[in-house]
Amino acid sequence: MSTADIGLIGLAVMGSNLALNIAEKGYTIAVHNRSSGRIDEFVAEAKKEGLDGKTIAKYELADFVAAVKRPRSIIIMVKAGQPVDDMIEQLLPHLEQGDAIIECGNSLFTDTQRRFDYLKPKGIGYLGVGVSGGEEGARHGPSIMVGGSKAQWHNAEPVLTAIAAKFNGEPCVAYLGEGGAGHFVKTIHNGIEYGDMQMIAEVYGVMRDGLGMNPTACAEVFKAWNKGPLNSYLIEITGHVLAAVDEPTGKPLVELILDKAGQKGTGVWSAIAAQQMGVPATAIEGAVAARSISSRKDERVAAEGIYGKPSRAKTDVTLADLEKALLAGKIVSYAQGFAVIAKASEENGWNLPLATIAKIWRAGCIIRSRFLDQMSAAYEKGGNANLLVVPDFVAIMKDSHPSLRKVVAAAAVGEFPMICLSAALSYFDSYRQAQGTANLIQGQRDFFGAHGFEIVGRGSDLHGTWPSTLGK
Ligand code: 6PG
Repeated sequence: MSTADIGLIGLAVMGSNLALNIAEKGYTIAVHNRSSGRIDEFVAEAKKEGLDGKTIAKYELADFVAAVKRPRSIIIMVKAGQPVDDMIEQLLPHLEQGDAIIECGNSLFTDTQRRFDYLKPKGIGYLGVGVSGGEEGARHGPSIMVGGSKAQWHNAEPVLTAIAAKFNGEPCVAYLGEGGAGHFVKTIHNGIEYGDMQMIAEVYGVMRDGLGMNPTACAEVFKAWNKGPLNSYLIEITGHVLAAVDEPTGKPLVELILDKAGQKGTGVWSAIAAQQMGVPATAIEGAVAARSISSRKDERVAAEGIYGKPSRAKTDVTLADLEKALLAGKIVSYAQGFAVIAKASEENGWNLPLATIAKIWRAGCIIRSRFLDQMSAAYEKGGNANLLVVPDFVAIMKDSHPSLRKVVAAAAVGEFPMICLSAALSYFDSYRQAQGTANLIQGQRDFFGAHGFEIVGRGSDLHGTWPSTLGK
């Protein structure tokens, strides 16, 4: 008998939490996992939470598929990459026209597009869905970015709407566009997440090494900032991370954690996508690069041996400057991220709604913040303009960019690395100047490669008469 409203394969942390969330919202969910031991554990967890009546565990794939009501919506939550393709192939013989696979991992959007195109002629829907919010989000309300087969989305919509985070009662879930649109938006979400995290870390560096603050004092500052314009999940958890104490030693945990950041790929994908479309996303690129440099600990230790310890020259930067610098950097970073989304929308014909994206990021996801509410309100007025020229943000930038400038300047003098904040400042300075220096680049390009340049009023494929450098 098919009694389940939806199915889910892959009961690792994210999958099992999503399944419990679905069951809790009153939907019956069939579950399956490659290893049966994990299914047993899930059954026990569901029982403990009083949700066993809403979960149907199946140990055989065929039985699992048969347990789901048609047209079927089957969530797969397996490791991104080949395991997703393998799962699709295993499922295919059991599926029927009109059924849909809903892939909720952090997949590369071009893979999602390929899978969508592959399944479409077979009459099987494919939804590539970005789910943000980590373990807790999956269990109690993630932000959900949907892309792919629209008809099949409507079958799953009630369930995904019920489990999504709510912001002032509005569910943080939306259908964003065909094919890989949902996973693309999730990728850029993660790129922005990298930028936010890196800028926070850079500011922490000044607090620690420039202002001589200990982790407890830093934690207090982040706690206070979380009550102001920077209010966000990442600022909140930063306060908690800085306040944590290592039990065995009684020392601040953050001081014991090795300064090598991991990364699983979404930041790199967003930087590549931006570069490929010719959209500058220097804050995201900087954040990715900063993680890569961090991971080269041995090289850094050796280089410090050569150049000596950074001077950490005394700075007159205040905590208020740091707060405003972070706000300005964040606006630039989001301006870049949304510009990448706008361009991808145009190139792929996705018609991505920027206001809706900002709205569904207001709760549930890792980058959730007060700021996104302001941003969705600004985009709701219409248009896809760069955030830096949207009036509400112009006012904040005018007020805060001098602080960003002061902080980046002090960082340069004091030998504090600020890959991300300085990239944000340079982008701002490049973007807001009418007269740049690319006239010289064009002259150089024409000199060595006859690439041509434009002179207003005279034409666009002009050339200079350049001296020969041969034999000089
Ligand atoms: C989210 C997170 C989540 C995951 C990141 C971590 O939105 O819930 O982004 O997807 O924690 O992918 O990425 P890195 O390991 O690359 O930092």
